[in-house]
Amino acid sequence: MDVVVVTGSAGLVGGEAVRAFAARFDLVVGIDNGMRQDFFGPAGSVAANLAQVERIPNYRHHLVDVRDHAALTALLGEYGTDVRLVVHTAGQPSDEWATGQPLVDLGVNAVGTMNLLEAVRRVCPGAVVVLTSTTKVYGDAPDTLPLVETDTRWEIDPVHPYHEHGIDESLRTEGGRRTFFGVSKLAADHAAQSYAGLLGLRIGVFRCASVTGARHAGVEQDGFLSHLVRSAVRGAPFPVIGHGGKQVRDVLDARDLVEMFWHFYRDPRPGEVYLAGGGRERSASVLELIARYEYLTGREVPFEYVPERRFADVRCWITDTRKFRRDYPGWRPVHGLADILSSVHDHWVAVGLNGFPVGS
Ligand SMILES: NC(=O)c1ccc[n+]([C@@H]2O[C@H](COP(=O)([O-])OP(=O)(O)OC[C@H]3O[C@@H](n4cnc5c(N)ncnc54)[C@H](O)[C@@H]3O)[C@@H](O)[C@H]2O)c1
Repeated sequence: MDVVVVTGSAGLVGGEAVRAFAARFDLVVGIDNGMRQDFFGPAGSVAANLAQVERIPNYRHHLVDVRDHAALTALLGEYGTDVRLVVHTAGQPSDEWATGQPLVDLGVNAVGTMNLLEAVRRVCPGAVVVLTSTTKVYGDAPDTLPLVETDTRWEIDPVHPYHEHGIDESLRTEGGRRTFFGVSKLAADHAAQSYAGLLGLRIGVFRCASVTGARHAGVEQDGFLSHLVRSAVRGAPFPVIGHGGKQVRDVLDARDLVEMFWHFYRDPRPGEVYLAGGGRERSASVLELIARYEYLTGREVPFEYVPERRFADVRCWITDTRKFRRDYPGWRPVHGLADILSSVHDHWVAVGLNGFPVGS
């Protein structure tokens, strides 16, 4: 039997991994304790996504906390060497939240990852593992690049080699300013590389930029695009925090990210680190994204500027995915920015006003 294990299976990336891989494996074993709601309140609930994946016939859910090493090892032990692929997406995803509770953040992101990798080592060492790391491991290093300011965005200076294709994996991870979230994810990222290099586990590390999609439970602290659209649909003010809204991010649909995992699974390169993002084509500042959304939907986004900047909130991030595309020429993102905005919009409209929990 071919088994795929997905941690964080009720979340955005995990949920899309379940949907994509249910048809490609005999059994999908999902692990999620619904902790996103503990982080962000009812608006962060992943219950609706969980209810959907639980309807998939070959999906089996386990309400396990990744901080519980014994429970994880016992669970993986039930499937043993039938486990072919492990997709690790369970995590605390917010810089801001981590600032308030750095120990919990470290426990979930760093210790949780070590627990999982150690369980894989003991139980199914031949399985391929993909880890969802983050570009936040670079801290504010991108802000040291030469940047230029236009009317609507910050941009990497056209004379810099990163301008054309975006930032690649060679950016330094040491030094600079970094949030506690960046610290816990960097610890997990490096631990995974050691499990590959030292112990031979077949792990790929994916440093993700801004990943989103229709099933993102976007809140102010995490998932800005989803939160923007969610706010617009319910007519609530969207806070544009810092940089006058000119900070640029490149957006990748979670479904395109999951296809990167599939390519890696089919031809793993253990220990490799890949950046995963939408690239220049899918890049936009917050102001540009608001304008794009308003144009697409004819709906106004009532936004308000918040002048204080978030700590180490970089002015421009655009991902260069050429390393991954060189190793896996069959992959390219298929969902464009307009497509992403439309699918997130359609989702929140379908959820309807009654689906917005108090505090959303
Ligand atoms: N979405 C992005 O833009 C983005 C960017 C960079 C990195 N990442 C990383 O990708 C991963 C997935 O992100 P996402 O957007 O799908 O997040 P998400 O919050 O939608 O999903 C994570 C899931 O993990 C679950 N979870 C949290 N703590 C847990 C625990 N202790 N035990 C078991 N389950 C737990 C949550 O309930 C949630 O369903 C995260 O590790 C995140 O740091 C995401």
